[in-house]
Formats: sequence, C-alpha cells, structure tokens
Amino acid sequence: MGEFKLETERLILRDWRSDDLDDFHRLGEDPEVMKTLGPLMTREQSADLITELQRRASRFGHTFWAVERKNDGRVVGFNGLVRGKAEQIAGELEIGWRLASDCWGKGYATEAALASVEWARQSCPDRYLISITSVNNVGSRAVMERIGMRRVKERDFDHPALAEDDPLRPHVLYEMELNR
Ligand SMILES: CC(C)(COP(=O)(O)OP(=O)(O)OC[C@H]1O[C@@H](n2cnc3c(N)ncnc32)[C@H](O)[C@@H]1OP(=O)(O)O)[C@@H](O)C(=O)NCCC(=O)NCCS
Repeated sequence: MGEFKLETERLILRDWRSDDLDDFHRLGEDPEVMKTLGPLMTREQSADLITELQRRASRFGHTFWAVERKNDGRVVGFNGLVRGKAEQIAGELEIGWRLASDCWGKGYATEAALASVEWARQSCPDRYLISITSVNNVGSRAVMERIGMRRVKERDFDHPALAEDDPLRPHVLYEMELNR
C-alpha cells in the first residue's frame, strides 16, 4: 500500500515517519498544549504515541495522521480519524486534532479537519462522525462547531481513562451526520 496523503491549501495529512519525533515531541513537552490533555509527555511517550498511531493506520486504514505544513515541511501536529476506545464511544468513528501552540490561531486545525471529514465521507461506511473533548476545552469545541458538528448533551460522560478527581474527566460529545 502506498503512503497515505491528503492535501489542503496549506497542509498535508500523511502517514507518520520515523523522523517525525523531534517535531511531534515539541507538543508533548509544551505546557500550553498539554494543559487540556494531561501531564507533560516524555520523549519516549511521544515516540510510543507515534507508534500507536501508526498501528491504528495499518489496522483501520486511518488514524490521527501527521500534519505537515507545506511551506516549511514541519510537522505541526496531528489530525484525523480513529475508532473510539473508551467504552462510551467504543468503535465509533472519531475525529481529533492537536497542534503546536505557536501554530494556533491560523485555522490549521479547521482546515485539516474539513479534509478529514471529506475523506471520511468518501471512505467510511459510518452514519455518524463524533468528537469528544474535556468540557472546558473551548478551543477544541470551537473547531467542532466550525466544521458543523453539534453537541449531543445526553452523551456527556466522564472519561474512564482519567482519575475521578481529574478536572479533565468530564467530557462532551459532538456529532455530525456523515452518510445517510
Ligand atoms: C484544539 C486546537 C487544535 C485548536 O487550535 P486553534 O488554532 O484554536 O484552531 P484553528 O487551527 O482551527 O484556528 C482557528 C483560529 O484561527 C483564526 N484564523 C486565522 N487565520 C485563519 C484562516 N486562514 N482560516 C481559518 N481561521 C483562521 C480563527 O479566527 C480562529 O481564531 P479564534 O480562536 O481567535 O477564534 C489547539 O488549541 C490545540 O492543539 N490544543 C491542545 C490540544 C487539544 O486540546 N486538542 C484537542 C483535544 S480533544
């Protein structure tokens, strides 16, 4: 199978490569990025996450792909589609994103997410696409709203992978119809 590649005006969503770790780890060690996600990551944890995302790409044909910026070739984060892991969303098609903090406020997450949605529409049989985030993650919720997702309040949940007293535990769920 050839390398996955999805192009937008300013970005390329593509398979992860072994030399992406330096760029990707900039996110894991940045307190601004990790504020809404959890503890800072070690370099080894960033490498493990890349491996996990590569594993998902081979298993499912999609993943949270590396997002490369066209004008300088830097990997500025990830964007794409996975199958939900937490029991409340198990197996559902889930869209997600993460960007280096010096790349916020440029519309990259929205631009990449719109391409992921379009790809999902053509490639996945699912009727619905969902997205989840901590209730206070206004930046991520704004991306969901910009790409046309709507909150399904009845599906709010506490993320089972997070401790009971973790302020990031309460999650909201957004959805959009992908296929009729
Ligand atoms: C969630 C996250 C990706 C959102 O990043 P973002 O920069 O706010 O979102 P976008 O890339 O879509 O950019 C939108 C912003 O760029 C502005 N913008 C500037 N140029 C733009 C352009 N050409 N096109 C569109 N928007 C543009 C928009 O007005 C908007 O600004 P605003 O936030 O002041 O309203 C980012 O905050 C992040 O990585 N957070 C940490 C990780 C995380 O929480 N991930 C989600 C876990 S569920």
